[in-house]
Amino acid sequence: MTIDLGDGLQVSPLGFGGMALTPVYGPADPVESLATLNHAVDAGITFIDTANVYGMGANEELIAELLKDRREEVQLATKFGIAGNPATGEREVRADPAYVRESAAASLKRLNTEVIDLYYLHRLDPRVPIEETVGAMAELVQEGKVRHLGLSEVTASELERAVKVHPIAAVQSEWSIWSRDVERSVVPTAARLGVGFVPYSPLGRGFLTGTVNSSELAEGDIRRRMPRFVDGAVDANQTVVEVVVRVAGELSSTEATVTPAQVALAWLLAQGGRLGLPVVPIPGTRRASRIDENLGAISLTLSDTQLSALDQAAEAVVGSRSDTPSWVSYGRE
Ligand SMILES: NC(=O)c1ccc[n+]([C@@H]2O[C@H](COP(=O)([O-])OP(=O)(O)OC[C@H]3O[C@@H](n4cnc5c(N)ncnc54)[C@H](OP(=O)(O)O)[C@@H]3O)[C@@H](O)[C@H]2O)c1
Repeated sequence: MTIDLGDGLQVSPLGFGGMALTPVYGPADPVESLATLNHAVDAGITFIDTANVYGMGANEELIAELLKDRREEVQLATKFGIAGNPATGEREVRADPAYVRESAAASLKRLNTEVIDLYYLHRLDPRVPIEETVGAMAELVQEGKVRHLGLSEVTASELERAVKVHPIAAVQSEWSIWSRDVERSVVPTAARLGVGFVPYSPLGRGFLTGTVNSSELAEGDIRRRMPRFVDGAVDANQTVVEVVVRVAGELSSTEATVTPAQVALAWLLAQGGRLGLPVVPIPGTRRASRIDENLGAISLTLSDTQLSALDQAAEAVVGSRSDTPSWVSYGRE
């Protein structure tokens, strides 16, 4: 089964976020990571997400290992626009036309492929009008190097300006039970323009699954400096997890256990129907077993009462979702 995301791009109903296959949320083993990727594709999760900046290129090189024998099975998404090293916090945005061309050539080389199915602008460069960036991305489509264009963390008005230059298949921004700011204007605008939505960090960077103990986060885990994971906020935010865990308990039976991760993903999948646009979350995991668990969300139906309890949980969240608000859509709205 596939979903028409936008601009005719057909993807699996759940994607796979590859970011943590190179270390950001603790260590990652390349052999296990490749096995997890292969398991995802075997299980029907064929929409694979990476970026040039993940692992400073090593993430795309890992995805290339998957693509070696399976390029035709995969809808490949990558991104450009964050230069520097997110793991050390030394980051900058860059999206001028020369950098667009240079980044695409480097990604195609690392991915060892002829074409990228979905090429995203990772972050808006305030020094470059979005029309110029998207214009350069459109040239890549004309040259056959890219099939569809996407934008990450854009505002509604930036999206409106971009679609005047070239069709946009998808917006990718953080969206989950505890990150709902995109619902104010980006999501309705995407729905009106026929642009699909790819929620990133749909499990709240793991927090919504109830398995993250912030005092045990590894040295170098980027969550250690995120406002919602720091002391004070993280304990308060357990109230959100409690709602997710309670709903999972209600849906579980003696025959089958429903997990908090499945509830978090099912809530997002329900938003597509509620708000009238294709919604394809991209949960990430290093472990093959969690692929099967997360896929279980597709067949899970939440009642109106459960949806509304989860809706309200967001009101209790402490801390903003980003340590650099101007980098994300709500910071520029
Ligand atoms: N556009 C952007 O700016 C941007 C920003 C962030 C992320 N992204 C994309 O979005 C993808 C997903 O986001 P994310 O990785 O930040 O967060 P996420 O998918 O919300 O959560 C990932 C975390 O959840 C854990 N996890 C996954 N499935 C689980 C399950 N069933 N039960 C318990 N824990 C589970 C994983 O741990 P294990 O590995 O131990 O399973 C991992 O630490 C990324 O991989 C990346 O491709 C994009």
